[in-house]
Amino acid sequence: MKRIRKAVIPVAGLGTRFLPATKAVPKEMLTIVDRPVVQYAVDEALEAGVEHIVFVTGRNKHVIEDYFDIQPELFDTLSQSGKVEQLAKLQTMQPRPGTISFTRQQAPNGLGHAVWCARDIIGDEPFALLLPDMVSFGDRGCLAGAVELYEQSGGNVISVEQCDPAETHKYGIVGKGNAVGGGFSVTEMVEKPAPAAAPSNYYINGRYVLQPEIFDVLSTQKRGAGNEIQLTDAMVGLSSTQDFFAAPFDGRMFDCGSKEGFIEANVAFALARDDINGRVFEPIEQMVAAHQRRGKAA
Ligand code: G1P
Repeated sequence: MKRIRKAVIPVAGLGTRFLPATKAVPKEMLTIVDRPVVQYAVDEALEAGVEHIVFVTGRNKHVIEDYFDIQPELFDTLSQSGKVEQLAKLQTMQPRPGTISFTRQQAPNGLGHAVWCARDIIGDEPFALLLPDMVSFGDRGCLAGAVELYEQSGGNVISVEQCDPAETHKYGIVGKGNAVGGGFSVTEMVEKPAPAAAPSNYYINGRYVLQPEIFDVLSTQKRGAGNEIQLTDAMVGLSSTQDFFAAPFDGRMFDCGSKEGFIEANVAFALARDDINGRVFEPIEQMVAAHQRRGKAA
């Protein structure tokens, strides 16, 4: 079985749900506590054993490339002013030369098309895919669980969580088959079905382990929902010749492409950080209590 060495992180999306902030700042650069959203996806990939990250970018996203590059002036200034801790932190986070690649999706043709743009850099090996809007929160990152199941099951693995059955139209949904390892085999996949048509409430939460043959299916450039090239449609195509398994995630994902998910993520990560929770817990508690009092008074 081939090991998962590479991961694709698509960062070409326009971020219309976050306007006006995303007029000038890519949504992947919005910060959760003190790190941009995209850094969380990179850390999660590294934790799962990934060695090389392929970003699929678009116009107006060059700041992401700068973010992952070294900043000689900043490093010198930190060193000269004795800010040793900050400097050491940046240096440990610095990707090693040659371990990240950037390719551009030239037009917003959908997630399937973005993934297809990475085909030459990935080559003929299975790879991980992380949608960075979905930020993983838990004892260990979501991708590590998907890779662990892949090491038992082979084939393709999709990470899933259970959603409110009324919200299946927001996600890709999988049908549940026999138990396999810590997960189950996938019987069907449907992109954003109405609740009545959904095979279950297990939704695709933005982490995948895919075989390179997905690129052959994506090459046909067939358009689906929203007139976009959908990854889920390509996975359905590939499932006629290859197995798909689902790895239920035991933490939770925050949808940081939405305002409420982004705010929740900021609170959750701030409360989970020992260096900051002591200073934010009480103010948050007081704000919630004041909000409740106002609600009761109204
Ligand atoms: C994409 C996928 C969908 C998945 C979702 C998770 O949809 O197509 O299957 O459930 O990401 O965030 P999008 O959010 O791009 O509409």
